[in-house]
Amino acid sequence: MTLEEAIKARHSVRQYKNQSIDKTTIALLQAAVDDANRSASLHMQLVIDEPEAFAGGLAKYGKFSGVSNYIALVCRHGDDEQLGYYGERIVLLAQSLGLNSCWVGLTFKKQPSRYTISSGEVMRGVIALGYGATQGVQHPVKPISQFCKLNGSMPDWFRNGMEAAVLAPTAMNMQRFEFELLPDGHTVVARTRFALISNYLKTDLGIVKCHFEIGAGTDNFVWSK
Ligand SMILES: Cc1cc2nc3c(=O)[nH]c(=O)nc-3n(C[C@H](O)[C@H](O)[C@H](O)COP(=O)(O)O)c2cc1C
Repeated sequence: MTLEEAIKARHSVRQYKNQSIDKTTIALLQAAVDDANRSASLHMQLVIDEPEAFAGGLAKYGKFSGVSNYIALVCRHGDDEQLGYYGERIVLLAQSLGLNSCWVGLTFKKQPSRYTISSGEVMRGVIALGYGATQGVQHPVKPISQFCKLNGSMPDWFRNGMEAAVLAPTAMNMQRFEFELLPDGHTVVARTRFALISNYLKTDLGIVKCHFEIGAGTDNFVWSK
């Protein structure tokens, strides 16, 4: 499965089968986590066979069941966009390896004995991973025109990027983001839009930028500095 196919196939899954993740898949996920941590100075940690985070009332309220593997999303204060970007790369890898996933900011219980949070770092949530009882369902997709600003016509690569971006997971499916193609025709600005609940806007921005890059192709544009 390519990353483009993984973007289309991925939906949040909250109910999982009682099936362990095989060793080869765990090794691939661990390598991806290590790579991401090295590239962006993050401190994500893969936690395997730990059912307690999703055993309590909050997880039940969030309709989670059977979750016993996750990535603890630990990073330095202010690195949320990077966390979103690199976390979503791992989500798409997981999807291509036959797993399902769900970003979870709130509806779980922290298990600090199972991962390390160093001084100056914060735990922003987890990504639940496992073999889903279902493949989930696609969230309602609004027209891409609602999420972009153009200064001329829309090139195909920009449209492909936008189509990938609107399929991305965002907290509470808020989708408070916007992509602008500058008049030079190859510089793209990605920004958040106002929201009353703003805790995950930067994480969401990193996630949608990850999707946009895969859809648009990194050879076709540069991010605005
Ligand atoms: C940063 C972030 C935090 C999230 N937190 C939760 C959560 O606490 N509980 C939950 O059930 N879903 C959570 N979600 C999943 C979103 O509700 C889901 O991505 C959104 O509704 C879009 O659906 P989709 O992922 O199936 O496309 C979160 C998603 C993101 C990106």
